[in-house]
Amino acid sequence: MEFKELGKTSVKIPVVGLGTWGMGGFGSRFLGGDDEAVRALQLGLDLEMRFIDTAEMYGRGHSEEVVAKAVRTRRNEVFIATKVSPEHLAYDDVLRSATASLRRLQTEYIDLYQVHWPNPSIPIGETMRAMERLVDEGKVRYVGVSNFSVSQTREAQEALSKHSLASNQVEYSLLDRSIEANLLPYCEKEHITIIAYSPLARSLIPKGGRDRKWTVLDEIASKYSKTRAQVALNWLLARRPVVAIPKAASLEHVKENAGAAGWKLTLEDVGVLDEAFT
Ligand SMILES: NC(=O)c1ccc[n+]([C@@H]2O[C@H](COP(=O)([O-])OP(=O)(O)OC[C@H]3O[C@@H](n4cnc5c(N)ncnc54)[C@H](OP(=O)(O)O)[C@@H]3O)[C@@H](O)[C@H]2O)c1
Repeated sequence: MEFKELGKTSVKIPVVGLGTWGMGGFGSRFLGGDDEAVRALQLGLDLEMRFIDTAEMYGRGHSEEVVAKAVRTRRNEVFIATKVSPEHLAYDDVLRSATASLRRLQTEYIDLYQVHWPNPSIPIGETMRAMERLVDEGKVRYVGVSNFSVSQTREAQEALSKHSLASNQVEYSLLDRSIEANLLPYCEKEHITIIAYSPLARSLIPKGGRDRKWTVLDEIASKYSKTRAQVALNWLLARRPVVAIPKAASLEHVKENAGAAGWKLTLEDVGVLDEAFT
């Protein structure tokens, strides 16, 4: 596995992590898929993708419980990121949400605590004061945001007085490149890690289509003896501040995604894909 530094911290995180949306349920708790999800996450950990992303919102907290089962015997080897929901961004609510996430995750600390979505009705300064308290208390190691624009990211940075903003988790894939205009260059300049979510466009990329861009992707994949998914993830990793968190419940997919790191597309091929997927 390859690693990149998280924001301005000296901690290194795997460039390919493990998403969990749908593990333990989507909008409600689903208890019937735990074994399959735990197997997939544990295989990912064995393959050195020791970075799991979850959220209090996923499966109404059950996703965090699934993560707890997967890391039970190896908590300290794994970098765990979770998120506080936008309706919980008032000071006391952030503290309460963190306590509940710690309990569900069965851990004493969250490696990265992210604001899931901005909430314009709650001042970000209030949220970040609670985040800093959690860091001071040792319950959270690093603070991040998710789905924040450039101006919201800047506000979040300015609202932190003692710690720096480590990351912004946003949608980014060959099929959704909207962050490239402003957010990506801003985060690169500010040394904020971009955690790319839906990096396979929710499986649209591996399924592909018939027009020219898919032919280009297939040609590049066959040149490197890789799959579409591996090339699409590697293309993301070619951007300096970017790491990716594909979600895979299938063991085959987990293995495939682990193989997205450890090699590099040439700059020329990155450019060819840039052009094909404009
Ligand atoms: N911050 C946010 O607001 C936000 C929003 C969305 C997502 N996220 C995070 O980002 C993670 C990833 O995003 P996502 O789940 O939306 O989409 P994704 O990772 O782009 O796609 C997941 C889908 O792709 C399939 N897949 C995975 N690897 C594959 C491979 N190698 N070949 C073929 N298909 C493959 C999975 O199937 P199987 O599961 O059957 O293997 C699943 O159906 C989430 O799980 C979550 O942790 C965050």
